[in-house]
Amino acid sequence: MGTQITMPAGVRQAAMLGLGVHRPERVVSNDEICELIDSNDEWIRTRTGIRNRRFAEPKESVIDMSVPAAQKALEAAGVEPEQIGAVIVATSTYVMQTPPAAAVVADRLGTKGPAAFDLGGGCAGFCTALALASDMVRGGSSDKVLVIGVEQMSVTTDPYDRSTRFIFGDGAGAVVVGATDAAGIGPVSWGSDGSQADAIVQEPGWLDFIDNPTGPRPFIKMAGTAVFRWAAFEMGKVALDAVEKAGLSVDDLDAFVPHQANARITEVIARSMKLPETVPVADDIEETGNTSAASVPLAMEAMLRKGEAKAGDTALLLAFGAGLSYAAQVVTLPPLQS
Ligand code: UT7
Repeated sequence: MGTQITMPAGVRQAAMLGLGVHRPERVVSNDEICELIDSNDEWIRTRTGIRNRRFAEPKESVIDMSVPAAQKALEAAGVEPEQIGAVIVATSTYVMQTPPAAAVVADRLGTKGPAAFDLGGGCAGFCTALALASDMVRGGSSDKVLVIGVEQMSVTTDPYDRSTRFIFGDGAGAVVVGATDAAGIGPVSWGSDGSQADAIVQEPGWLDFIDNPTGPRPFIKMAGTAVFRWAAFEMGKVALDAVEKAGLSVDDLDAFVPHQANARITEVIARSMKLPETVPVADDIEETGNTSAASVPLAMEAMLRKGEAKAGDTALLLAFGAGLSYAAQVVTLPPLQS
């Protein structure tokens, strides 16, 4: 046995202390999307529930969207930037691979050099990062962790691809996770099915593009029906597992905040869970589209802002997508910036 290593006891609980979001200004209607793809407003509305989505300006990067969302989350939490011990940016659309977006965001916020890293968890990224942050706080490696889910899908989807362009949007959502007496973030139910990983891919890969720079550039390609079937069949079970792990039943929930993938997927999952009809279900997809890793915090904010749920309520979060990966947990909803 070598010298004894000292470790914090790790017995604290963790909760979301504050939530902030950034919705880019530019509203893009279904009609505008259909100028470049063979589709129409009615098809998009009835197949997905989407009417509008937001697109960032071309120069408004993942970092530019993360910073205002994080500033609002810090304000809502009453936490100063220098108190942040770690920043996690969950994204799959930060096209600069180096440096990590999280380090740049941390610097722009005026933090004091916290741990900073990006997490590529596809649409499950925010809930995955939230689980990680909760464990970091409870384990004692950070007192306060800033978790950001952010995507710029407008630059990673092909404007002419009728199987992806209409569904995705841009935005950012952030929460501060900190130590609390009572648990505000329940045990995570998470996993992946890499055997179906080719259902959502970047195509071509960067190496292929480097070999053939005059060929097509990398974009996200999606086998939508395969993802739909997987989510509709499997995600209700994951959601119920998260509720059970928290020692609760669906009757204890005040709100359900699923990944805003497709309004029809949400309906199937809620039905398969036998979620009581009195439990409000997030429906941010109508005006926001599917913002991948940003969708759960954006949907939480929409529910709180519209008064469909309030801070302190017990909500089930569920996110799923590329990988095919997923993560779900029961949480206490955080306050918004007043
Ligand atoms: O967030 C990450 C995870 N992603 C998801 O969860 C997305 C899951 N998938 C979906 O939401 C759906 O699969 C989509 C909305 C992407 C597509 O809906 P779908 O009902 O699965 O459409 P489909 O591909 O099975 O196509 C059905 C019909 C076809 O026509 P026919 O053969 O029935 O005459 C397609 O040609 O709809 C047609 N179609 C379209 N029509 C108008 C396919 N795309 C379009 C389009 N506009 N954009």
